[in-house]
Amino acid sequence: MRMYDIILKKKKGEMLTKEEIHFFIEGYTNGSIPDYQVSALLMAIYFQKMNKEETVYLTEAMMHSGKMIDLSSIEGIKVDKHSTGGVGDKTTIALAPMVAACGIPVAKMSGRGLGHTGGTIDKLESIPGFCVEMTKETFINNVNEIKLAIGGQTANLAPADKKLYALRDVTATVDNLSLIASSIMSKKLASGADAIVLDVKTGSGAFMQDIDEAFLLAKEMVDIGQSVGKDTVAIVTDMNQPLGYAVGNSLEVKEAVQLLEGKGPEDLEQICITLGAYMLILAKKVGTEYEGKRLMKAAIDSGEALKVLKGFIERQGGDISCIENLDLLPQAQEIYPLKASESGYIHKIKGDIVGVSALTLGAGRDTKDSEIDLSVGILLNKKIGDYVEKGEVLAYIYNNDAVKRDLAIEQLLTAYEIEDTQPEYRPLIFGIVT
Ligand code: URA
Repeated sequence: MRMYDIILKKKKGEMLTKEEIHFFIEGYTNGSIPDYQVSALLMAIYFQKMNKEETVYLTEAMMHSGKMIDLSSIEGIKVDKHSTGGVGDKTTIALAPMVAACGIPVAKMSGRGLGHTGGTIDKLESIPGFCVEMTKETFINNVNEIKLAIGGQTANLAPADKKLYALRDVTATVDNLSLIASSIMSKKLASGADAIVLDVKTGSGAFMQDIDEAFLLAKEMVDIGQSVGKDTVAIVTDMNQPLGYAVGNSLEVKEAVQLLEGKGPEDLEQICITLGAYMLILAKKVGTEYEGKRLMKAAIDSGEALKVLKGFIERQGGDISCIENLDLLPQAQEIYPLKASESGYIHKIKGDIVGVSALTLGAGRDTKDSEIDLSVGILLNKKIGDYVEKGEVLAYIYNNDAVKRDLAIEQLLTAYEIEDTQPEYRPLIFGIVT
């Protein structure tokens, strides 16, 4: 088999066979096929597309390119959750203990992430001492004993995807549905879960800005999951403004804890309760969304989820006094109130711009070696649909550097659209794809 012939075939719009896809993925992973040939194939895939069968073959080839995590020694059905990413998305920190409090094992591999703010692990590392490094035995024991552990993704998890994603990034071939779906699902499937709930976000702060595209991506990923025998459900949710009010690592941990204390923002609560309900359905704990939501709410109201969160943080070395007193989490030196320059209803708080502004403050990574400032970020004071008077606070800027703060303010102001009339209602959850 020759890579040249595979590129030519796809260039002509023909379907690649399973053997051809495995050949290219194996060759690319072991270095025998060079970047320039894979770049050419990616561009051919970009224009000619892949059908469902090819997408499944690509997912399987990437998922087997490294180590498959074996979670079989954990009792029960392990349901994983994945979000396609958004600004202020601290869902995992609240949702994982909510689901664990219902007796369902949550064995999660999370990432650090390049982007506006850190990934789930960076956020959790705002808690002094918290650590994701542990042996496989400790990870499994923790899940068996307290139903929850969060580990870091190992370098050997779907390494083909890692290489391919980096190449797509520099060859303008990221935004192809088959390539995105296979990339996400190869990592999820290699992580060993029995079933998967996907949160596919759409809107200004999301990867998929267009709602129809988000539904297509959701369907593509659900089909991949089902075709390899894993129950998969996707929920398409709004990311036209940040989720909750907090954007920034320790600010987001604080907000997730507040949710478990029964004082969380409504949108974050609704998303956690809905995602959790589907996790309980896939774990066969409940038969309906209604019943799942009831259990999720009860996990908050009874304080059980908060108890699980504290137990999990303690097991992973974190100082739980910071959870009992949230003021002990890393604090920024200055909290600057950003005031509205006009009165009116808020129509837009463009998520991508809020994200860039948080990045300017130091909440995220520009490159994979950048240092994150865990204490900085943005705390919104108003959300879409709220009325704001001229001079009222739109958001608080948590910062440690006046130069960065001033640039962040300049950026953040462009995120807002304020008008005289009330905006149209936009749902938070657009639909469920099964
Ligand atoms: N996230 C991924 O992991 N892969 C993609 O291709 C896009 C988003």
